[in-house]
Amino acid sequence: MKYLIALCLFVVSAYAQAPKPCDSPAQWEAREIRQDYSKKFAEYRKLSYDETNKRIREVEEIIIGTDKEYYDRLYLHNENKNYSVNLKTRKCEVSALTRPFRYRGVYPQAKFDGIFNIGAVGVSGEVVAVQAWSANITGDSPPQWEAREIRQDYSRKFEEFRKLSYDETNRRVREVEEILLGSDKEYVDRLYLYNEAKNYSLNLKTKVCTVTALTRPFRHRGVFPGAKFDGIFNIGAVGVSGEVVAVQAFSANGTDGFYTGLVTYPSCYPVQNLFFSKANGFEHSDYFDLNIGIVDLNVFVPPQECIKAEEEMNKKKIMPVTDYEQKYQEYRRLSYDETNKRERQIAEVDVGGDKAYYDRLILYNENKNYTLNLKTRICTVSAINRPFHYRGVHPNAKFDGLFELGAVGVPGEVVAVQAFSANETNEYYTGLVTYPSCYPVQNLHFSKTHGFEHSDYFDLHIGITDLNVFVPPTECLKAEKSQKISPVV
Ligand SMILES: *[C@@H]1O[C@H](CO)[C@@H](O)[C@H](O)[C@H]1NC(C)=O
Ligand SMILES: *[C@@H]1O[C@H](CO)[C@@H](O)[C@H](O)[C@H]1NC(C)=O
Ligand SMILES: *[C@@H]1O[C@H](CO)[C@@H](O)[C@H](O)[C@H]1NC(C)=O
Ligand SMILES: *[C@@H]1O[C@H](CO)[C@@H](O)[C@H](O)[C@H]1NC(C)=O
Ligand SMILES: *[C@@H]1O[C@H](CO)[C@@H](O)[C@H](O)[C@H]1NC(C)=O
Ligand SMILES: *[C@@H]1O[C@H](CO)[C@@H](O)[C@H](O)[C@H]1NC(C)=O
Repeated sequence: MKYLIALCLFVVSAYAQAPKPCDSPAQWEAREIRQDYSKKFAEYRKLSYDETNKRIREVEEIIIGTDKEYYDRLYLHNENKNYSVNLKTRKCEVSALTRPFRYRGVYPQAKFDGIFNIGAVGVSGEVVAVQAWSANITGDSPPQWEAREIRQDYSRKFEEFRKLSYDETNRRVREVEEILLGSDKEYVDRLYLYNEAKNYSLNLKTKVCTVTALTRPFRHRGVFPGAKFDGIFNIGAVGVSGEVVAVQAFSANGTDGFYTGLVTYPSCYPVQNLFFSKANGFEHSDYFDLNIGIVDLNVFVPPQECIKAEEEMNKKKIMPVTDYEQKYQEYRRLSYDETNKRERQIAEVDVGGDKAYYDRLILYNENKNYTLNLKTRICTVSAINRPFHYRGVHPNAKFDGLFELGAVGVPGEVVAVQAFSANETNEYYTGLVTYPSCYPVQNLHFSKTHGFEHSDYFDLHIGITDLNVFVPPTECLKAEKSQKISPVV
C-alpha cells in the first residue's frame, strides 16, 4: 500500500469553476463585492435577487469617512421601472430600464468564484465577487451520530485518533482515544455530560477516573446554530465520479470562540470543524466513517471506575470561558507544480476582518519568492525561507489508513480518502488524498519555525491551464532588477 501511494505524483491546480448544481435557487441574497483593480476601488452592496419575478434590489454599503455617493437601487423588470435613491441627498429618480434582466450565476458557487478570480493572471479591469450575506445553510446536521475523529491540537502540537459519539439533543459527548500499539502515551476515555456539567476522564492504562466540572460550554459539531453560509466547494477532483463530494462551508461567532466548518451538501453531515478560542487556541477536528444515530445509548453512561470518583467530586462553579482570539484564514487560488517545484498562490487574507490580497509566486529551484500586494501593486522579491512543501502525498509518506469522509452509505455524500504522514528532518506532514487516485484533500505541515499550517483543497482540476501562471508579474520583474536579494539564513 505504502509503495502504491508513493507513486501518486501529479501536478494539480485548483480553479474556481465548478459544475453548476441543477437546483440553483431562484431567490437569494448576498453581499456583493465589486473590485476594480485598475481604478483601485471596491464597492460593497447588499443584493437581493429574485429570478422568478425578475427584480433586483442593490443597496450600497456606506463606508464612513468617504465622500462618495451611495445609492439604493430597485429594478423591476416586469414593470420596466428603475428606482434610484441617492442615500445622501435622499432624492429618488425613476426611469425606464436601460438593459434587460441579467441572470446571475449559481449562488453557492458565487462567492467562491469571486474570491479565486481576484487578481487572476491575465485578467485586468473588473472582477466581481459575490459573498453570502444572510442565507442560512439548507439544513441542520444530524443531532446524533458516531464517527472516527482525528483531532489536531495546534497549541499542544499533537494529533489524536478518537471514536466519537455525539448527541446534540442531550448535549453529551463520548470520546474514546484509540490506542496505538508500541507507544507509551496515556490513553483517555472521556465522557462529557453538558446538561449536568460533568466531565468524566478515565485513564485507560491506570484505570483511574477523575470527575470534574466541565470548564467550557457545549461545542456544536456540524453546523453551528445561526451560522453564516460561506460557500459550496468540491472535495476531491471535479468531474471524477466517485472521487468528489460537495461540501458547504460556514462560519459562526459563538460566545466562547469562532467556528468554521464543512458539512456535506445537501444533507449537512459533518466533515470538519475548526474552533478558535483564547483559552484553547486552535482546535481542528476531521470526521470520518460517520454513521447517523447512536448504536448503543449506554455509551453515555459513566464507566464503572468513575462512580466512586463522582461521589467524591467536589462540584466547582463552572468558569465562563473567554472570547476568541484573532483568527487568521486565507483563501487562495493555487497552481502547484511538483515536477519543477514551483507554486503560484493568489490569496485573500482575512486577519480579524481586515482583508488584504496577495499574489505570490514561489520558484523553489531558483530560490525566488515574489510577493505582489494586489492593493498597492508593490512587489517584494526575496530568497525562499523554507523547503518545498509537498501537497498531496509526500514522497516518503507512510500510509495511515483508509477512511470515508461524509456519511457512510449515503450515495453522493461520501468519498473514500487515504491518510498518510511523513516525518522529515525539520518537518512533519500529514495528509488526506482521495482513493484510489490520490487527489489532494488536505495537508498539515508542522515545523518548529512555522508552527502548524493547514490547507484544504477544493474544486481541484488536474493540470495547469496556462503555464504563464509561473511567470513573475511585470511589477515583480521591475522590483527584481532594482532590488538586491539577500539570502535568508
Ligand atoms: C437606472 O437609473 C440610474 C440613474 O438614473 C442609472 O444610472 C442606471 O444605469 C439605470 N439602470 C438601469 C439598469 O437601467
Ligand atoms: C436563518 O435562520 C434563523 C434561525 O432559524 C432565522 O432567525 C433567520 O431569520 C434565518 N435567516 C434567513 C436569511 O433565512
Ligand atoms: C475534563 O477533565 C480533564 C481531566 O481532568 C481535563 O484535562 C479536560 O480539559 C476537561 N475537559 C473539559 C471540557 O472540561
Ligand atoms: C465576531 O465577533 C467579534 C467581536 O464581537 C467581531 O469583532 C468579529 O468581527 C466577529 N466576526 C464574525 C466573523 O462575525
Ligand atoms: C515569501 O515572502 C513573503 C513576504 O515577502 C513571506 O511572508 C513568505 O513567508 C515567503 N515565503 C517563502 C516560501 O519564502
Ligand atoms: C519524527 O522523527 C523524530 C526524530 O527522528 C522523532 O523524535 C519524532 O517522534 C517523530 N515524529 C513522529 C510524529 O513520528
